[in-house]
Amino acid sequence: MLARKHLTPRLEARLRACTTRNGWTLKAALRSGAEQPDSRIGIYAGDSESYATFAPLFDPIIQELAEGASRGHRSDFSLEGLPLEDLDPTGEYVLSTRIRVGRNLARYAFPPAIHAEDRRRLEAEVVDALAGLPEGLSGVYRPLGALSEDEREELKARHCLFSAEDRFLESAGALRDWPEGRGIFTSASQRLLVWVNEEDALRVISMQPGGDLARAFLRLRGALAYLDARLDFAWDPARGYHTSCPTNLGTAMRASVHVRLPCLSSRPGFEARCKALGLAVRGLHGEHSAPEDSVYDLSNEHRLGVSERDIYARLHSGVRRLIELEQTLRGTRRQRRRARGG
Ligand code: ADP
Ligand code: ARG
Repeated sequence: MLARKHLTPRLEARLRACTTRNGWTLKAALRSGAEQPDSRIGIYAGDSESYATFAPLFDPIIQELAEGASRGHRSDFSLEGLPLEDLDPTGEYVLSTRIRVGRNLARYAFPPAIHAEDRRRLEAEVVDALAGLPEGLSGVYRPLGALSEDEREELKARHCLFSAEDRFLESAGALRDWPEGRGIFTSASQRLLVWVNEEDALRVISMQPGGDLARAFLRLRGALAYLDARLDFAWDPARGYHTSCPTNLGTAMRASVHVRLPCLSSRPGFEARCKALGLAVRGLHGEHSAPEDSVYDLSNEHRLGVSERDIYARLHSGVRRLIELEQTLRGTRRQRRRARGG
């Protein structure tokens, strides 16, 4: 666990008495890691100030997460000069594409520390901003508590809804008063989603059937340009966008595809091959889930030390490469079967 690794007794003594304006302490920041010993990171920020107040602990963790990538964040959503074509024009491999970013508001505590009243105020501010989204992105906001069981199940089946079943978030305090103050915005096309007050104040998500990564990216870029002009997002030039969990700092972007690679994924070293391409492997239902029917969730491994443009480029080239390898393996298997007369 990174938090444990970097918290020396000396550092603990130095930070023990520190508190942010929202009352976030070292103990609160480390609670999730303490209660969930299988945590990989084991620390959460309760607000923007946490990253400065507890910098001697957060910064080495952030550096290790960025794996030596240059520190500092500069947003770049341009796609000029990058390949724009569909990742999988045949539709054989890529089932769907999703890009999300996390955002928090500078004036409020983050979900692990926010109080009920502020959570409601924040929700109202965000809902107000979402109500003005331009044509093509506009839609409706529904509080989580107002969704029927059937509606929730339907949204979950389409990978559109978050759940309250994350024990790491629970221990961090981010699920208090559930489902109060939480909700989901869905655009008329169902392709822009905004989760409000889950792990971060906002998760802005662009969904796309198939492999049209450029279209998903441009939709997200449009929505963020609009929201950025209306909401004061927590941010600093070294750490990028501030998120509850340090794994999301920087771009706070995870761009992923659901891709079926039966030949490649059944060979040893599949995850290492993805990692070498800068891609992380998750299961079909996201973090901590398993693949199903050889369908994997592949996404950018790094969010900090890279720009949004870099993430796009890496996912595009990495997934193209994996599909080529899958095609080669399929061809080889077919040839072998033919040679055996099968
Ligand atoms: P996050 O992406 O917000 O870090 P998860 O990994 O838990 O969190 O994913 C959230 C949801 O998004 C899950 O239901 C997951 O299956 C879904 N998802 C992720 N990538 C895709 C994709 N490319 N297509 C469809 N759904 C996806
Ligand atoms: N706190 C958990 C851990 O340390 C989750 C880390 C990354 N996941 C996330 N959803 N932020 O392992």
